[in-house]
Order: sequence, then C-alpha cells, then structure tokens
Amino acid sequence: MKKINKIFKKNKSLSLDLYLEKILYDKDAGYYQNFNPFGAKGDFVTAPNISNIFCEMITIWLVSFWESLKKPKNLNFVELGPGNGDLCIILLKTLKNFPEAFRSIKIILYEKSKKLREIQEKRIVEKNVSWINDLKKIKKGPTVFFGNEFLDALPIKQFKKINGEFFERYATLKKKEVKFIYKKAKNKEIIKLKNYKLTKNNGIIEYPEYGFKELNTMCNRIKELNGGLLFIDYGFNVNQGQDTLQSVMKHKYNKIEKNIGKADITSLVNFDLYKKYFNYQGLKVENVISQSKFLQKMGIIERFNIASKNLSFDDRSNMYLRLKRLIDPKFMGENFKVMFAKNKKCKFSLAFK
Ligand SMILES: C[S@@+](CC[C@H](N)C(=O)[O-])C[C@H]1O[C@@H](n2cnc3c(N)ncnc32)[C@H](O)[C@@H]1O
Repeated sequence: MKKINKIFKKNKSLSLDLYLEKILYDKDAGYYQNFNPFGAKGDFVTAPNISNIFCEMITIWLVSFWESLKKPKNLNFVELGPGNGDLCIILLKTLKNFPEAFRSIKIILYEKSKKLREIQEKRIVEKNVSWINDLKKIKKGPTVFFGNEFLDALPIKQFKKINGEFFERYATLKKKEVKFIYKKAKNKEIIKLKNYKLTKNNGIIEYPEYGFKELNTMCNRIKELNGGLLFIDYGFNVNQGQDTLQSVMKHKYNKIEKNIGKADITSLVNFDLYKKYFNYQGLKVENVISQSKFLQKMGIIERFNIASKNLSFDDRSNMYLRLKRLIDPKFMGENFKVMFAKNKKCKFSLAFK
C-alpha cells in the first residue's frame, strides 16, 4: 500500500494513462520493474515463449527484407520490449544459418524495465546485440522496428461522451482503494480525438497517446533511413466502443482495481487507429492481417513438418499443440494481428499480399 500511496502523493487523481504508466513502470511500484511475468510460473505467455518456430518465421521475414534491399552491410533490427529475450535468442540462432545476413544485421534491444533488461543481458551475450535507451541514436542503416505484444503494453487514455460533452477517465485513491472517476475532458484532448475522427464514436473512446509519442521517433527514423515497423498484437480493426483494458495474474483474469503492481494490465490494439497514425506520419501501411495468415504465408506449417519429422510421438504432439495455439482462430490465430508500416519507397510486402 505504501508504494501505491506514493503514486498519488503529488496528485490526488491521475489520468488513466499516467496511472497505468506508474503502476506498470514506476521504479518502486511498477509491475514490470518487480516481476518476470513470462512463462508457466509467471502471469502469462507470449508467442515467442510458446514456440521457437514463431521466432524462426520472424527471422525468415527479416532475412527476406534484408535481401529485398540488396543485402546492405548494415541493417538494424530493433526489438521493442524484448521481454525475457526468447525471441532474440532464437532469432540469433536462426540467423546463423544465413552467415552474410548474420554479419550484416545489427540487433538492438529497446527495453524500459530494468528488471527485464537485466534478464536479457544475462541471457543474450552475442557481440552483434546492443541495448539502446534513445532511438534517436540510430543514425545509419535501414531499420526494422519489431514489437510482439509491445503496443498492448503501452498506457492508453479513455474518454466517454455524456449528453454531447466529453469526459476523461482518471484513477484516484479512496479509503485505501483505487477507484476510477470521470472528469470533464480538456479541450486539447478533445481536439486530438477529433483529428482521428474518434468523437463520432459511441461508448468508450480509447486513445494511445503514449504509443503515438513513442512511435514518433521511430517513424522519423524510417523516413530518413528506410525500413519499417512490424507489429504483432491482439486487437481489432473495427472499433466497438468498448473498454478494452484487461488485467491478468497467474494466467487468470484479475479485476483492474485489484492486485495493483502485482498484475499485468494491457489493452486491445486499435489497428485502424494506428493505421491512420502511420498514414499521418507519412508512412505506407500494408493491409492488417491475422497472425494465422502471416505465419502460414511465412511457411510455418512446412517448417513444422520438417522440424517435427524425427521427433518422438510426445514431442511431435507437443510441438503441434503449440503451433495450433498460434494459428488456430479459436486461440491466437485471428485475435492476434500483424501490421507493417514502411517507408513510402519500400516495395517489400512479403506475407501481406
Ligand atoms: C507484454 S511484454 C512482451 C514481451 C515480448 N515482446 C514477448 O512477446 O514475449 C511487453 C514488453 O514491452 C516492454 N515495454 C513496454 N513499454 C515499453 C516502452 N515504452 N519502451 C520499451 N519497452 C517497453 C515491457 O517491459 C516488456 O518487455
């Protein structure tokens, strides 16, 4: 409770995004600063934790991108929020099968959580991997920014319209419990919503201000250096006006107000909104496709057939169930979507056509 009190010390109430930022990343109270949430013993699993062949497909996509640019000597692959490092480890292993690409692709990891960065530094010891805090420092070479479940982890704002007036959601502390309240929205916030034509929506309006700020530097890098941003995340294309915040702890849903700082909180990604954002930024966006389509276009089933050929029945079944989890529409196949925003000159569209 002491840590939560500290969050509200300066301000009695915090806008939802500022509150989320603090309970997820505050150096004392922040969930990601204190826990390693990945895997069976943690709170959730992600695609790289589920299956190595997911990571292999990302590597093949990256190598193809590098080839499409005529194999430049220097290409940056920036992983946004690498979590426990699983993707990066398999990416490096797979990349070694393509020695020229391995020599030419520099891996840069961008991680906000001190705890996770320590875990990554322990697990990843290759020379061509470095960590960066300031993306403006990327000065040369075409660049691919990649984020798996990165966008959903960024704090969002929420608004609602009552009798034609807009209200913003805030968090406050009442009798030692976090409560959510709505306050009249500031004009400058309403203007932002209008710019994205969100004010016509009924129900809850979600606005990823933090996300847009984070992505601004990346978009500038892409326009200057060439390349693109590849995102995989759970979300939707058509806004339903819903409150999409969700909290999980020990693989079960948790009430947003409970276990603060001990449970993860994310929101669904509004891909349509991000598409508009990238277009405003002067990038070109491929059609948003399902994870199932992306992975199958990249050859995940063929890869499964080869990789599982000589396995025992039990190991093959295990590998199959993991594949199913990634591509079956009943599991992650359709809920998870893939988005590729790129420099306008870039013709590469592997898996998206
Ligand atoms: C849900 S986890 C996904 C981890 C990993 N990509 C995976 O798929 O297993 C979100 C990751 O993004 C990181 N993160 C969130 N916001 C960030 C930010 N603004 N800058 C850098 N990393 C961030 C978190 O610390 C965490 O590593």
